[in-house]
Amino acid sequence: MGAAPAHPVIALQGACLGYGAEPVLEGVDLEIHAGDFVGLAGANGSGKTTLLRSMLGLLPLRGGRVERHLARARLGYVPQNDSLSAYFPLSVWEVAAMGAYGRLRPWRLFPGDERRRVDRALDRVGLGRLGRTVFAHLSGGQRQRALIARALTMEPALLLLDEPFSGVDRDSKADIAQQLVDLNHGSRMTIVLSSHDNEILDRTCGRVIRASNGGLQEPA
Ligand SMILES: Nc1ncnc2c1ncn2[C@@H]1O[C@H](COP(=O)(O)OP(=O)(O)OP(=O)(O)O)[C@@H](O)[C@H]1O
Ligand SMILES: [Mg+2]
Repeated sequence: MGAAPAHPVIALQGACLGYGAEPVLEGVDLEIHAGDFVGLAGANGSGKTTLLRSMLGLLPLRGGRVERHLARARLGYVPQNDSLSAYFPLSVWEVAAMGAYGRLRPWRLFPGDERRRVDRALDRVGLGRLGRTVFAHLSGGQRQRALIARALTMEPALLLLDEPFSGVDRDSKADIAQQLVDLNHGSRMTIVLSSHDNEILDRTCGRVIRASNGGLQEPA
């Protein structure tokens, strides 16, 4: 007798998503299971960010159901074009370290194992040597990589990345994608990655779903 099927980490059933009078996505049925690496494709305005925000609980559903079987603290999110001010007077290391805040006790020194986690996350995105640089002095693509490192420092069970490669050069994109694959395989991190780069989605993700014409299409 096989094991009972595990709960999906997140499931949407007949979900209707959007903001104003017109829904952006309707009839959304989607299950994300532990260990999945899901790509999310779709044209500008097709609803990728809307879907990710609804999965996170940042945007209430207009209809249907969403189930989450993980604690909020285990969710990592790299928002599209993060609004973290480029003028914020923090070093790259300090930005990446923000991912550990949820685990820290107030008024205690940053413990050594957490420091190593931050170093590892910066290494993974190729910024290991730029930790002391002021975040505002980075290029756009480097900033994007620092924000990915911030999410990796969290070591979340489920990581949602919304177009994390915008402005990241081709080689770095391939490197970071490989790091995500390693985290997915090695640490069984569940990942949802939206991108306009279909080639990288096909190469990196176990499964690619597409937002278009007001719904989600998932190849059988
Ligand atoms: N805060 C908002 N209020 C009202 N409408 C919104 C809001 N955010 C997005 N929309 C609308 O919802 C639709 C889907 O937007 P969404 O940002 O989800 O698309 P996307 O697939 O992420 O696009 P892109 O590839 O450009 O990031 C668009 O028509 C957009 O105008
Ligand atoms: Mg978007």
